[in-house]
Amino acid sequence: MYFCARFCESMKENDRNTDFFCFKLYDWYEVNARQLPWRQTRNPYLIWLSEVILQQTQVVQGLAYYHAFVENYPTVADLASAPLDEVLKLWQGLGYYSRARNLHAAAQMVMERFDGEFPRKYTDLLQLKGVGAYTAAAIASFSGDEPVAVVDGNVYRFLSRYFRVETPIDSTSGAKEFKELAQYLMPADKAALHNQSMMEFGALQCTPHPHCDQCPFADSCAAFADQVVENLPVKQHKVKIRTRYLHYIYCIADGMLILHHRTNPKDVWQGLYELPLIELDRATDFEKLSKKEQFKSLIGDIPFTLVASSKEKTHQLTHQKLVAKCFFLRLKSMPTLLSDDCLAVPLSLLNRFAVPRLVEFFLENGIRIFEAE
Ligand code: ADE
Repeated sequence: MYFCARFCESMKENDRNTDFFCFKLYDWYEVNARQLPWRQTRNPYLIWLSEVILQQTQVVQGLAYYHAFVENYPTVADLASAPLDEVLKLWQGLGYYSRARNLHAAAQMVMERFDGEFPRKYTDLLQLKGVGAYTAAAIASFSGDEPVAVVDGNVYRFLSRYFRVETPIDSTSGAKEFKELAQYLMPADKAALHNQSMMEFGALQCTPHPHCDQCPFADSCAAFADQVVENLPVKQHKVKIRTRYLHYIYCIADGMLILHHRTNPKDVWQGLYELPLIELDRATDFEKLSKKEQFKSLIGDIPFTLVASSKEKTHQLTHQKLVAKCFFLRLKSMPTLLSDDCLAVPLSLLNRFAVPRLVEFFLENGIRIFEAE
């Protein structure tokens, strides 16, 4: 607080300090910025697509998804009228599928509330499903130069260091303080350039482990002067991670495979497909698993052979560690009665279903195992 106040005051006393900061930043951006397709457009729909994708993945992986979305849905009307399953399929591999559902719902809101005209104003954008302060500021500034500052992880890192702000970024007061500071630095007439530069500087130069000897701000950065760069930004809460034990059953018969549709709105991967799943409070071998009620209700009395068992595979989500194993069974025949959320799918149509990356891995294993048989 003290340091931030000190530096803010010094900037306010002399507006040239803010100019000095900004022009140095923009000079750096001009030389170092990556050429990215969403930076060559003012179309708010395309900018929105890029921002939602980039909340989920790094730029390098995000590019392929961005191109796929733009190609499949060149306009917001195309996205709004697409089936949700298709959108989820295109999103496959990015994770956090509620973002894809929100994307679809927001496109429909644009058609209904905004007559199909994607909004550019910060306050209008905030009405869209899944669009929070960060995304609204990014779209409003990049598409229409509205002077609202973006504060993403990169900006938090840069500001917390440059001004040596030690208020936790995940506290209410921290969020307010950083937003004010970022807004204070925002010029009235260069919002797009300013926000892109702030984010790019955090992404490329002021990284978690930066090379401060090559930084253009080394002579005015408070954290560098005090040798506390790597201690910033401060977070108050460590994320609690829950471990879950997943046992997938790959059941094949007559060229068909059983898939399960995940419908629980309170759990991850809602709307995606997976292999039938038995979740237990610890990793369990097949012998014990096959005696469980869930197993019997899936297979019934149908004779089967256990063809292979996978190794344990761990999959990290934001708040969960998934420890998964897959058991590959050949059934004598498909069960005639499957529960409502299960379906038997011909192997040739498997690639139409959106599945989490973890399940995709087991599906690929299955294809190899049964091909080799
Ligand atoms: N991450 C989030 N938004 C971005 C953008 N517009 N350019 C590069 N990286 C980003």
